[in-house]
Amino acid sequence: MTAIKGKHIILGITGGIAAYKSAMLVRLLVKAGAEVQVVMTPNAKEFITPVTLSTLSGKPVISEFFTANTGEWHSHVDLGLWADAMIVAPATASTIAKMANGVADNMLVTTYLSAKAPVFVAPAMDLDMMAHPSTVRNISLLRSYGNHIIEAQSGELASHLTGKGRMEEPERIVEVLEAYFSGNCDYKGKHVLITAGPTYERIDPVRFIGNYSSGKMGYAIAGEAASRGATVTLVSGPVSIPAPADSAISVVRVESARQMLDACENVFPDADVAIMCAAVADYAPASPSDIKIKREGNEPPEIRLVKNPDIARTLGEKKHEGQILVGFALETDHEGDNAVAKMKSKNLDMIVLNSLRDAGAGFSTDTNKVTVFTADGRTLPFPLKDKHEVAGDILDTILSL
Ligand code: PMT
Repeated sequence: MTAIKGKHIILGITGGIAAYKSAMLVRLLVKAGAEVQVVMTPNAKEFITPVTLSTLSGKPVISEFFTANTGEWHSHVDLGLWADAMIVAPATASTIAKMANGVADNMLVTTYLSAKAPVFVAPAMDLDMMAHPSTVRNISLLRSYGNHIIEAQSGELASHLTGKGRMEEPERIVEVLEAYFSGNCDYKGKHVLITAGPTYERIDPVRFIGNYSSGKMGYAIAGEAASRGATVTLVSGPVSIPAPADSAISVVRVESARQMLDACENVFPDADVAIMCAAVADYAPASPSDIKIKREGNEPPEIRLVKNPDIARTLGEKKHEGQILVGFALETDHEGDNAVAKMKSKNLDMIVLNSLRDAGAGFSTDTNKVTVFTADGRTLPFPLKDKHEVAGDILDTILSL
């Protein structure tokens, strides 16, 4: 461990049972040569004592805005400027909600809001809290602000239930930080083109042909590639996900397949890797109406469809030596055969199959279950995972090509 040496790290600890693991986290960070300043929420003190943490860190723990007996003010602004990184571990649902919404009612959240350094958040909570739409939304908001989420793991929880919610192990958190500081970015210097979301094909100014893609899978790949050092161009169909805050990601917004093709053809010549994750509509109305088609007094219109361009195939025809082109296959039957056929016919180097027959996979979910087929003949099945972890598996496999 060298990259962490000499770094100033704020460790924010919140009130959850996983706070006991924070003692080990302080110890590992200090052992790696970091200066650690612990900031606890008042509730965290119910789970682990400040004495333990100040002994391990060699610094008084900060929990309140003032030290009670001396009246000394703890400047969250100075602390935020001092830090090279802030870790919040464990991060409870309540602290995550406060961070996502700027509720600065304790020293930890106030420090977070003042921090200029990268922030790493390791959620820990019961499985139902973890799966609640408000927690899912708040974590996604934190991600959109550029925070790094260190995913909770599945296993037995304090409630004795089994599911996702265990804080990542301290050793792994230190590894994540080490990788960040060492600039161990395996995509550094690479330009990655990613398509995401659906396309909308206009019928008239108020109606369109589209599909259920939310953009989550493509945006997760973009975030993961950027955090691994890539410069990313994200060509996005209409989605409600906010634009990523990461300056390494440029978003090009498009609506139709034709616009998506134009954007991709502009970027592809300079891309090292292109990942076609968008659910592109295969057909578009031949003659979209300029005015709203009226219902009153009319028979239901017959809409003639024409084939849209196949973006992946077009790029496959233009691919030059050294470029890697990756497609997705969304299937409902004969999954493997269809995916491999698409990989071959579109001249792809790899294809990521997801099937709508698998629960938790495909459109709109936060998870996906994929099997990757490579043009060099490998078949790599992965279990159901969070889409951000799936993104990591896809990027790892691309590096193996
Ligand atoms: O956005 P989410 O809600 O997170 O959902 C993710 C996803 C299900 C959309 C994603 O994981 C996925 O499977 N994307 C590809 C969907 C799709 O259109 O699959 P396909 O089998 O029809 O297309 C095969 C490949 O050709 C894809 O890489 C597709 O981007 C590309 N294609 C298809 C049609 C077309 N006209 N042009 C294309 O480039």
